[in-house]
Amino acid sequence: MGVAVAVDGLQKSYDTVEAVKGVSFSIEEGEVFALLGPNGAGKTSIVEILEGYRKRSAGTVEVLGMDPEKGSRRLKERIGIVLQESTTEPYLTVEEVLRQRTFWYPRPSNVDDVIGLVGLEEKRRARLRTLSGGQQRRLDLALGLIGNPDLIFLDEPTTGFDPSARRASWVIIRNLCSLGKTVLLTTHYMDEAQHLANRVAVIAGGVFVAEGTPDSLGGRNQAAANIRFSLPEGITLQDLPVPARPDKVAGEVVIDTQEPTAALARLTGWAVERHLELAGLTVTRPSLEDVYLELAGDAAERASQNAMKATT
Ligand SMILES: Nc1ncnc2c1ncn2[C@@H]1O[C@H](COP(=O)(O)OP(=O)(O)OP(=O)(O)O)[C@@H](O)[C@H]1O
Ligand SMILES: [Mg+2]
Repeated sequence: MGVAVAVDGLQKSYDTVEAVKGVSFSIEEGEVFALLGPNGAGKTSIVEILEGYRKRSAGTVEVLGMDPEKGSRRLKERIGIVLQESTTEPYLTVEEVLRQRTFWYPRPSNVDDVIGLVGLEEKRRARLRTLSGGQQRRLDLALGLIGNPDLIFLDEPTTGFDPSARRASWVIIRNLCSLGKTVLLTTHYMDEAQHLANRVAVIAGGVFVAEGTPDSLGGRNQAAANIRFSLPEGITLQDLPVPARPDKVAGEVVIDTQEPTAALARLTGWAVERHLELAGLTVTRPSLEDVYLELAGDAAERASQNAMKATT
């Protein structure tokens, strides 16, 4: 497997705004890589530099072995783009605009296949100006796929989708991977990153603050598990066979443990012996969202501390 994207020391400034401050990463062919980060973190800036839409201020960038800044036609033919903000011809129909685009590419996808893939069969003959927000976004996805690209950039591809459309587009993106395509995705939905990405990077204030698989990000796989349940009547914390603490807000008790299997065995063994039901019993690890909020929050705090230092 080769490398689809290689970025080293990437920087981007707009006048006085330093949006990207030295970012390095690479994406293997066939991988789904997700960029996560708060509004204004620099995600779209990075993506658009890789697409060849913006010039970088410093650093090296290789996309499918080419420098996107050179604007080579060979590169444009091999990448598919879904922009965060899109503009299309309002008076053309879905089918017309897709058919028109097939002429841009040497080996385009089949128009009917793409319409089916994004679930726009019923809107095939609808003019673009009549599409709903979510339908427009599906068309954007279709436009990204029509050239049958090897590498696809999806900047918040499912923002504005209803839950079932979001699930449907996950299937589409997974299918792209099974065809061996490479995907760079940005999203504000942690479940989407969890479901789709092989690797995620969290960017905040123009720098990467963490990178890893969705399951291991920020040490998530090593974090303590929480066992929760409601205390049965007549039982106190001291009666329990494992140390527990109360969560007064949730009205439950919590066991924090690195060994959930053993802790659970002791707890449930103890409860079964006494014919006690542990209502609401769950075992959880911190979710990707928990870890993300912590990482992004830490980064925001550091930034404000630095700003304070700068002003004092
Ligand atoms: N054309 C521009 N001119 C000046 N500043 C810009 C321009 N484009 C982006 N910026 C600034 O660069 C920073 C990063 O913006 P960017 O669009 O890359 O963020 P993002 O991570 O994609 O955010 P979002 O989640 O809101 O889409 C922001 O502070 C933004 O205001
Ligand atoms: Mg953006």
